[in-house]
Amino acid sequence: MANISKEKIDQVNQAADIVDVISEYVSLQPSGKSMKGLCPFHSEKTPSFHVSKEKQIFNCFGCHKGGNAITFIQEYKHLDFVEAVRFLADKYNIDLEEDQNTIEKYNFNKLYEVNKLAKDFFNLHLLNLDSGKDALKYLLNRNLTKHVLNEYNIGYSPSRDNLLMKNLLENFQEFELVEAGLVNRNDSGNYYDVFRHRIMFPIHNEQGKVIGFSGRTLSNDKNLPKYVNTQATKIFNKGEVLYNLDKALPFINQKKRLVLMEGFFDVIQASIAGVEESVCTMGTELTTEQARKIKKYTDNVVICYDGDEPGKQATYRALKILENAHLNVQIALMPDGLDPDEYINKYSATMFRNQLNQQLIDKFDFVFEMIINKGLKTSSEIESAKNALFKFLVQSASKTITMIYLQKFAEKIGISIDVIQQDYQRYLVNQRKYHQIEKTRRKMPELKISKARITAEEKLINYYLKSDEYREIIEEDFNNFKYLKGMRFEILITMREIFLSNREVALYNLKTDLSDESFDTLNQLLLKEDYLYSESELKQLIDTLVYESLIAEIDDLRKELMRKADKNDLKDFSKYKTLLDEKRRSCEIIRRRRNDKKANI
Ligand code: UTP
Ligand code: MN
Repeated sequence: MANISKEKIDQVNQAADIVDVISEYVSLQPSGKSMKGLCPFHSEKTPSFHVSKEKQIFNCFGCHKGGNAITFIQEYKHLDFVEAVRFLADKYNIDLEEDQNTIEKYNFNKLYEVNKLAKDFFNLHLLNLDSGKDALKYLLNRNLTKHVLNEYNIGYSPSRDNLLMKNLLENFQEFELVEAGLVNRNDSGNYYDVFRHRIMFPIHNEQGKVIGFSGRTLSNDKNLPKYVNTQATKIFNKGEVLYNLDKALPFINQKKRLVLMEGFFDVIQASIAGVEESVCTMGTELTTEQARKIKKYTDNVVICYDGDEPGKQATYRALKILENAHLNVQIALMPDGLDPDEYINKYSATMFRNQLNQQLIDKFDFVFEMIINKGLKTSSEIESAKNALFKFLVQSASKTITMIYLQKFAEKIGISIDVIQQDYQRYLVNQRKYHQIEKTRRKMPELKISKARITAEEKLINYYLKSDEYREIIEEDFNNFKYLKGMRFEILITMREIFLSNREVALYNLKTDLSDESFDTLNQLLLKEDYLYSESELKQLIDTLVYESLIAEIDDLRKELMRKADKNDLKDFSKYKTLLDEKRRSCEIIRRRRNDKKANI
């Protein structure tokens, strides 16, 4: 999300002199105290567009557009405010990135205000008005108290009459409510409240400002989504949010860890139970941004997801993301497929705290259990468990830890550790090959037909039509053009067939042998320009085409290697790699020869 401090914006304003900025797009002439030019925003014949260096503003007396350098860039380049600031910062070498923490978000204030008023509105409906009675009953039934509901600013969105919108329109305009994601417009152009008949969880950023909402349905209608979240806005992106982080921060510092959960109810119940360092994502997979955010505050994470199978799978995925962000991870596993909220309600806060303090599972044990719990009966189950374990150990474990888990695995399937170790060594060798392939894959960009190749093909066709002498020269290398494709190549092949069957390579023969389309192409080609034919130019053309063929061939080989890599098929890998290297060498030789020739001309 774009966080630009007021200081940075001032800095941009200082650096970006308005005359300097605008004269890049408008030709300005001095006129009295200011500069004058033709307005870029409306069409005019006499200049009414004024720029004042002294005041650092522009103003058009024709269309009445005006503002400062940032506004100008916004208007002229159709950018929003932040994009315009970025554009100018870039131009004047100002680094915007470093001060993400001094957030005074300038033009986002409106959005914060809208969200705050909406929060108050929902809160009022839940706790003080009749409309929220059922919602309140539901929440009290889930073991939340009025005090807690207040503390977490939980609310209720009424079901009818677009009450939120009507209420907020006293202070805001429709488009602002739409921008905040609270109001939408339907196909017939009418505005309506996005959240209806839902329990409203306000989402706060780290500074405690409300940036969006998640609404849990109160209806039994299975067709309605259980939770509806604010769509992405300028200040809200659910992939970056960690719910409750603002409240959890002091506890994260104090306890030197963060507990990561899946749901709002989980976080709130856990906090009440004394695990106040809890946060959750919003129904999406943990993202690398979120992991990076966590890393800013602590090095230690406990994952406490739902105890069911999807929860365990999600734990495994989150684990990897957290590991990549260099965080230490432990797992709290809820029994019987319960989620933390259910666990606390079924057992007790004390037992939950105990789970989170005394019963934590080491990440290796968690992954090991997960892998072997998939079954170890059939040989294919054993093989896939073994590969999953190897893969995880290669990425995450030291040599010692690796040995420990190889040993455990050997015991589990009743086989000697030596055998497992041999398999593991072989796996490592294949891994290395695999990485080599990966490197190859990245080396070459996707193949595009080069301009040089097209021109060479066109010229060669002209040469081919010209004389038997040229045709003989071309014939020597013709088989090396085999990777050229397309219409021009079709023409070339057809001409060659005519030549080799001792017919005359002339247009009347080509007309019968070529498709209408190719014959048209040929004619256009012949009309294009007249060449100064020379043997040395022809040889260069041939070089170019052999070179381009090699490039195409290399590309095919590279793709083949990629396919093999994707299927983890390492057979013949070295054969292909040698071939590829050979082709690359030939390519290089021709490239040098061509460069030398160019240098000699
Ligand atoms: P769950 O389905 O586990 O819900 O989704 P929950 O938190 O246990 O809620 P209750 O206890 O049934 O009321 C976990 C989280 O995934 C997100 C929400 O953030 C929720 O808290 N979610 C879930 C959505 O965004 N959309 C959905 O439709 C469902
Ligand atoms: Mn739940």
